[in-house]
Amino acid sequence: MFACKILGEENVTGPVLVWYNKTMDNDKRFVTGLDVGTENVRTIIAAVDKDGVATVVGYNENKTTGMRKGVPANLTGPASSIDRVLGEAERMSGYEVKSAYVSINGSQILSTKTEGMIAVGTAEHEINEQDLARVEDVAVTGRIPANRDVLDVVPLEYALDGQGGIKDPLGMSGARLEMRANVISALTPNCENLKKATMAADVEAKRLIPSVVAAAKAVLTERQKENGVAVIDMGSATTSVAVYEEGDLQYVGVVPAGSNNVTNDLAIVLAIDPEMAEEIKTRFVTGNFDSNKNSIIRIGKEGKNERAFERKEVEDVIKARLDEIFSEIRKKLKSARYDQRLPEGIVLTGGGAKMRDIEIFAKNALEASVKIGVPEGLGGVSEAIEKPDFAVAAGLALFAAEEAALDFTPSKTPKKSIKLSNTPNFLKKIFSKF
Ligand SMILES: Nc1ncnc2c1ncn2[C@@H]1O[C@H](COP(=O)(O)OP(=O)(O)OP(=O)(O)O)[C@@H](O)[C@H]1O
Ligand SMILES: [Mg+2]
Repeated sequence: MFACKILGEENVTGPVLVWYNKTMDNDKRFVTGLDVGTENVRTIIAAVDKDGVATVVGYNENKTTGMRKGVPANLTGPASSIDRVLGEAERMSGYEVKSAYVSINGSQILSTKTEGMIAVGTAEHEINEQDLARVEDVAVTGRIPANRDVLDVVPLEYALDGQGGIKDPLGMSGARLEMRANVISALTPNCENLKKATMAADVEAKRLIPSVVAAAKAVLTERQKENGVAVIDMGSATTSVAVYEEGDLQYVGVVPAGSNNVTNDLAIVLAIDPEMAEEIKTRFVTGNFDSNKNSIIRIGKEGKNERAFERKEVEDVIKARLDEIFSEIRKKLKSARYDQRLPEGIVLTGGGAKMRDIEIFAKNALEASVKIGVPEGLGGVSEAIEKPDFAVAAGLALFAAEEAALDFTPSKTPKKSIKLSNTPNFLKKIFSKF
């Protein structure tokens, strides 16, 4: 079997494919990120070398069917969308995808702050992996409703014998261990249905990761996460926010409305079909709503189906919906106590972030500095995926690459950059044996 590599910088006219024999190459692992959105499904296949460096070897995007507000509305639609999107990426990479890191979305995703405490022995006792697993268990068990799957447990802080502010208590001494954590969960039926849909396309969903958390992985720097930053992923039917501070994921929330609601509002108010509304939105509107108030927007073919609309009327419809979505996001940030408290500001991703000057609108709506996020951290990235709407697929591939890198050094503890909090429980159990 063969795989190909897309070369990056030197690539002027498009991806250059360099073929190499994969069966001869034991120095690589292949990983796949699969972003199953409400409107679009995107995938990135990457080759990971033994230093953990991930290089894109295949990618693709397609329209999705059978998804509603970020969750499967049936199985066949998402399954065939996944099958189609992977087909082309597999041909590009020469690699057959058997498993993937998959995005999960929807307002069902919850971020719950919890606490746990355990007695670990005498004051001389050194905290070990088993103690950490036990205190995590206490912090999670019974705090999350039974119809929810825990997607991640992010340890925020530990305390030993009442002394808090401890990030990593491993090897430290104490008799009483406390933990504060952020537990990310999703409704079990939605998780199961997403896994079933990917399975129907012959792909095992190895891990489900909230879309916005995956996007954050691809667009944020460690410094931003340390100082305090939020990522807002504006998709077609959802807008999600993830807040990072002190290096950790502090909060995740999802608003069940996105850029497609803007299109639908336009279609209704202007009495036009959604295709025309989409064209108006993407071609003529910017997030700087103060400009050219009195001009006319003309669309369609002259003398045939041409229509003319006052820009002010169009902008008022779009602005009203964006105002609503961003005020919901602001409410979420406020409830998590991060409103106006983010030194590194906001990073926007998703298809909605492609609206021209959306950062101007978001800056006014959220009273924070705003940037557009494009995926980083993957080698061999071509222009086609250097866009805010590929951030989720890129982040999923990066998460997968981190864990694939562990494959090369199974007897060592993970590198510092790989956080145990982002590691599934079965891997944590393996680490705890070393
Ligand atoms: N240039 C543009 N200007 C404005 N909106 C755009 C532009 N390009 C794409 N969009 C919008 O982005 C949306 C699609 O974004 P994306 O692909 O991130 O959604 P999704 O992941 O399928 O949905 P979700 O995350 O809500 O499940 C569409 O509503 C589309 O109109
Ligand atoms: Mg999305």
